[in-house]
Amino acid sequence: MIQNKNILQDPFGRQHTYLRISLTELCNLRCTYCMPAEGIQLSPRSHIMNYDEVYTIAKTFVDHGVTKIRLTGGEPLVRRDADVILKKLATLPVELSITSNAVIIDRFIDILKECNIKNINVSLDSLDAEKFKEITRRNDFEKVYKNIMLLIDEGFYVKLNAVLINGFNDNEIIDFIELTKELPVSVRFIEFMPFDGNKWDKAKMVSYAQVMEYVNANYDDGKVIRLKDAPNDTSKNYKIEGYKGSFAIISSVTNPFCDSCNRIRLTANGRLKNCLFSSSESDLLTPLREGKSIEPMIQKAIQAKFKVRGGMDTMEKLEQPDLHGNNRSMIAIGG
Ligand code: GTP
Ligand code: 5AD
Ligand code: SF4
Repeated sequence: MIQNKNILQDPFGRQHTYLRISLTELCNLRCTYCMPAEGIQLSPRSHIMNYDEVYTIAKTFVDHGVTKIRLTGGEPLVRRDADVILKKLATLPVELSITSNAVIIDRFIDILKECNIKNINVSLDSLDAEKFKEITRRNDFEKVYKNIMLLIDEGFYVKLNAVLINGFNDNEIIDFIELTKELPVSVRFIEFMPFDGNKWDKAKMVSYAQVMEYVNANYDDGKVIRLKDAPNDTSKNYKIEGYKGSFAIISSVTNPFCDSCNRIRLTANGRLKNCLFSSSESDLLTPLREGKSIEPMIQKAIQAKFKVRGGMDTMEKLEQPDLHGNNRSMIAIGG
């Protein structure tokens, strides 16, 4: 370990304490906003981190101050040894959590509890089975909805992630908020973000301001309460007075929250991404397999982090396909 060196602090003073690890590039859904219809070029199997490598790299980060690890994918639970990885990572002194599409999460309830996982984020873009099928290209709405209810019954704290697409599911904003009347969940409306192959178009995005227009048109003045956001939160949180749950907006496009960013990402093939939007990556797996220290690579990657959205600091830059298209598809980042 490099002594007396804060390798997870970037030049803007941001301390990186939250590591998101993608366990696999595979998914059992095919969400249109996340992956191209034709699929992506998968990494050869031998290039994917094995469970020991995931653990070793995660431990290095924890030794340097990471306190929170979130497992992502693709769909993290489709990985055959997901249970082994969960159990190994649960031995580290961190808050462990997972983002899942919940299609098969019912098989993991006991393991999730054993690993002391409390927070589970679930993607759900529509409350209408037909629309769910259209966006995910799979007919799994009933299963997912049932599993969300199961997670709540089992005592997990659930956040629902809905990526809003103009003219497709923006008419469900109020239905989603009404879910929070009786359910103690947080529904997060996410601004559609551009990545390689997802046919992003600004006109398809529903902005933070537009969500609030729907909300304010539907609920009386004083009923919509702005909640205090947690430090490093990606979301602006609200609730309707008297409702059990809350709702939020994740506005990476119109209101980036990069100033308080504490996140770094490890891809399934062992590359460090210093930002969700960064097109450059640092290979940690090759040096690890060669028996070398990965700390210098980590430090270099953190030092190279841009202040805002991987350098796409204006809307004009974000809109340029030659800039955002240099990044991976979301399926291979994990969000
Ligand atoms: P918490 O750990 O509960 O705060 O979850 P989260 O919101 O960080 O993670 P989740 O996997 O549920 O992702 C929800 C949405 O937030 C997705 O659309 C992510 O792509 C987006 N998101 C997550 N982390 C970042 C980030 O670092 N930057 C930006 N711009 N968006 C992010
Ligand atoms: N824009 C915004 N959010 C996205 N996600 C996947 N692709 C996009 C995109 N293009 C979300 C998923 C998942 C989370 C990890 O990232 O809905 O919940
Ligand atoms: Fe952090 Fe990049 Fe996300 Fe901004 S866009 S919050 S810098 S990961």
